[in-house]
Amino acid sequence: MASSELEVLIDADRIRRRVEELGEEISRDYRGGELHLVGVLRGALQFMRDLSAAIGIPKTVDYISVASYGNCSRSSGHVQLRMELSESVAGKDILIVDDIVDTGITLSWMVEHVRFRGARSVKTCCLLDKPARRTTAVPLDYVGFPINDLFVVGYGLDYQEKFRDLPFISFVSPPERLV
Ligand code: IMP
Ligand code: MG
Repeated sequence: MASSELEVLIDADRIRRRVEELGEEISRDYRGGELHLVGVLRGALQFMRDLSAAIGIPKTVDYISVASYGNCSRSSGHVQLRMELSESVAGKDILIVDDIVDTGITLSWMVEHVRFRGARSVKTCCLLDKPARRTTAVPLDYVGFPINDLFVVGYGLDYQEKFRDLPFISFVSPPERLV
């Protein structure tokens, strides 16, 4: 399927406005402090770029790479660390930034990972939340958009590494149609 045939679920303008709002909310909540953002690669890359630009307080940024999906559209149920953080999180106020929370397995693993390494505080921020698919409870402190149980692509999200570069969020259900 060509990207030009994909339907728009959330257009670029709505994404931009919501990311600005999240940035302002986060800046207010952490006013006077300093924030260490941890982005989950590769899906959160676009979101992290725009969100960190919208956060108006001192911040540092790091990335981690994990895989829970392999190349299928459903979670495999376990998380594999592909690339560890470069900076220590010990004693820092951490905001984990992810693209989408589906089963919750990846993000809850991330929260534990960062806590175990001695973070002072840990909060979570995701662009998209699919609450209907949750199997593992995880606290979501900042959510861009709650969505229905659709397989979405674009703005960093992929299906088999395709469609990450779309400026908007699209959906395809079932995802097999994307092949
Ligand atoms: P979870 O561990 O099941 O919550 O899955 C989280 C990860 O799976 C996300 O960070 C995404 O990388 C991927 N994922 C979940 N749902 C989708 C989707 O609809 N489109 C693309 N990737 C998804
Ligand atoms: Mg991800």
